[in-house]
Amino acid sequence: MPEQQQNDKIYFSIDGKQVEGRKGESVIAVADRYGIYIPRFCYHEKLSVVANCRMCLVEVAKAPKTLPACATQIMPDMQVFTKSKATVASQRAIMEFLLVNHPLDCPICDKGGECELQDLAMGFGHTESKFHEPKRSVDDENLGPLIATDMTRCIHCTRCIRFGTEIAGIPELGATGRGEDMRIETYLERGLHSELSGNCIDVCPVGALTSRPFRYRGRSWGFNQHIAFASHDCIGSNQYIQTINKGYENKTEIMRVLPKKNESLNQTWLSDRDRFSYLGLRHSDRLTQPKLKRNGIWQSISWEEALNEVADRTIKTIKEHGAKECGFLLSPSTTNEEGYLLTKIAKQLKCPNIDYRIYSSGGQKEINPSTFSTIEDLSSLSSKKTILLLGSYIRHEQPVASIRVREASLAGADVFSINPKHYDWNFPICESIQVAHDNMLHFCAQVLVSACKIKKLPLDDAWKNLLKKIRSSAKSDELAKKISENASCIIVGEYAQSLHNAGLLIEIINYISRITGTDKLLMTPGCNARGLHMIGAIPGQKDGKTSGLDCHALLEKPKKMLWIHQFEPEFDIFNPKRAITALKNSDTVVCFTPFETKAMREYANILLPITPPSEMSGTYINAMGQMQSFQASQEHLGDSKPGWKCLRVLGTLLGLEGFVFRAIDELQQEINTNLVKEMPDTLPDMNQLDWQKEPVQKSLVHRIGIKPIYRVDGIVRRADALQQASAVQKMVVRMHSKTAKAFKVDQRIKLRLRMEKKSFCFPFKIDDNVCEGCIDIPTALVESRELGGTSDWVEILA
Ligand code: SF4
Ligand code: SF4
Ligand code: FES
Repeated sequence: MPEQQQNDKIYFSIDGKQVEGRKGESVIAVADRYGIYIPRFCYHEKLSVVANCRMCLVEVAKAPKTLPACATQIMPDMQVFTKSKATVASQRAIMEFLLVNHPLDCPICDKGGECELQDLAMGFGHTESKFHEPKRSVDDENLGPLIATDMTRCIHCTRCIRFGTEIAGIPELGATGRGEDMRIETYLERGLHSELSGNCIDVCPVGALTSRPFRYRGRSWGFNQHIAFASHDCIGSNQYIQTINKGYENKTEIMRVLPKKNESLNQTWLSDRDRFSYLGLRHSDRLTQPKLKRNGIWQSISWEEALNEVADRTIKTIKEHGAKECGFLLSPSTTNEEGYLLTKIAKQLKCPNIDYRIYSSGGQKEINPSTFSTIEDLSSLSSKKTILLLGSYIRHEQPVASIRVREASLAGADVFSINPKHYDWNFPICESIQVAHDNMLHFCAQVLVSACKIKKLPLDDAWKNLLKKIRSSAKSDELAKKISENASCIIVGEYAQSLHNAGLLIEIINYISRITGTDKLLMTPGCNARGLHMIGAIPGQKDGKTSGLDCHALLEKPKKMLWIHQFEPEFDIFNPKRAITALKNSDTVVCFTPFETKAMREYANILLPITPPSEMSGTYINAMGQMQSFQASQEHLGDSKPGWKCLRVLGTLLGLEGFVFRAIDELQQEINTNLVKEMPDTLPDMNQLDWQKEPVQKSLVHRIGIKPIYRVDGIVRRADALQQASAVQKMVVRMHSKTAKAFKVDQRIKLRLRMEKKSFCFPFKIDDNVCEGCIDIPTALVESRELGGTSDWVEILA
């Protein structure tokens, strides 16, 4: 043990038991570590200490009065008594005060059964109150569709205020008045807008803040609890799914989702998206029976008939047109088990056209492992360290990871945003650099050239020709110097990965990382992109070259047969317009899907109802390479089945080998032996690379097409409470005032534009946060289904 830590050790006693703590620790923290319970309301291990409830008063030898254990630092040879007469008398007195104004709501309170106040009232409270005056009552706050309030129950612990200010970085709640008149209110009376707001429900020790969708739906002691992993971003936050056994169709129903502590990932927090998305699972769009389109009419059929139909059509297509006329597209949130079986089927059918990178415009070739082992490492990037957020709106893309960046930033790290927009960050940033599209690639190349200059290293031969026109700039020199001198991290986000030159961009980041010793973290869309890459769910390779078609190329033209696994092309794909056209004109489209959509009924021929993650077992690998396996939390709805079971049967029906698995464990063992753990850095094809493409027409601007936070996948899109929670879900197109002026549209409230030969008219706002020369048009909205690619050119119509 280092000498410093040895010197920091303090020995003292709690209830006569010898304990060990470190200098600066509080009595309550050491007591918690030793499993000695001290009651508390305002203390929370992740929040600052305010010591305003006084519930943790304990007797300390030689102290004249009982002391708050949360605000008392440990001292050598101190003697603490948590059960003594003086301690219990103090705690009973505090309880008496707290209960003076507390309502007798326990029978109708959602917190009942898991309420710290209720528990302590049983332990320390009096059976009769000496107080006969009317109790105080407080008006409720409207905190939006996710959180219900009963402010009369509030005990003014201020945990919710501190959570917003210290962790979420958005101070939306505050306290007004003093004593009995104190109230917890929103500053602007506009509800909570943090993407982490649901954590206020967990930190509230009483039933003042409760989950609105869960309100009056069940009692916590009647629930079954299942361990699960969030599937809406690449972090894989650990969570508990709580269910009851008599829900819809008399089957197990999810009651709520709570965070499960994992210090290396989500700590004790959960994003609202992960917490409330379960509301979309039993949406009326759920497909519960296989369906086949015959002569334009949809008919429900049996699984046997459906799988035989898929197998027969696939065999026939390959026989008549060859395997290259088939394609397999899967969501980046597909489990390893499904991804592996799809890849195995494609390989044995000799079809190289398989891809999970549905969000990419075709430029992303490789996902090289992140050099970070966990996002916990981000928090340790404190003073004098640098974090570059490259094409990443981490606050909305991976909300729990943004807590880590915030921790680093508050500890003194310099955070730079290199993005197509100036975002409203929930942490202090050093500088926001606005670059979009090819200029982002160009800027990264400049940083690489600057880094080589600083490190006095020549460029590798393979890069010399490509970068010969690139000159470093003062800004690139500054950034390269910062990341070369101090341990740093480059976080590559979803925008950067959606660009048509994303493959090259990622290779440049790999190169910068290699020569400067900078860590990199590739934050992929979906929850299992890393796993699918390790499985090899990408176009086939032949002689070191890609022989198959990627998602972008597959949907350029109609195909004879396409399998679409677990995504909705009209929302989830890079270019929905082109995808739908290609699908409509393909001979056979088979959708493995939990939900049935209107668009799907038009382009698909066979619909197979597969279960969402909560209804099956599976495995995900997060962005840091951590594998997490989960079991089903509820039964299948209707006749839906786990995707891996359908693919296992299909493999056998197609006459392929190695598809007999008695249980999922056997399949998982085979996957583990076949995972490609090390992926070599490969340089994409750099011929004819045009660094800064000019628009072919003067009336063109580049689209910045970003998915709003609650539109990322089919489950989230169907969670009504989340849809109501965010204003950014509405279609509004935005442009910098200078760009708008150049196009003479700065006075408009609606803007006409053209993409893919079709014109549209959308509500319009001037927004100087958008990069000049670009137009911000959100993707994955109902209104954007007919639009072209998320980073394509857009024509502004007069
Ligand atoms: Fe009872 Fe706790 Fe609810 Fe108060 S907050 S009514 S003590 S369950
Ligand atoms: Fe504490 Fe809950 Fe009141 Fe906030 S609402 S101050 S968390 S009791
Ligand atoms: Fe110590 Fe509130 S928990 S004063």
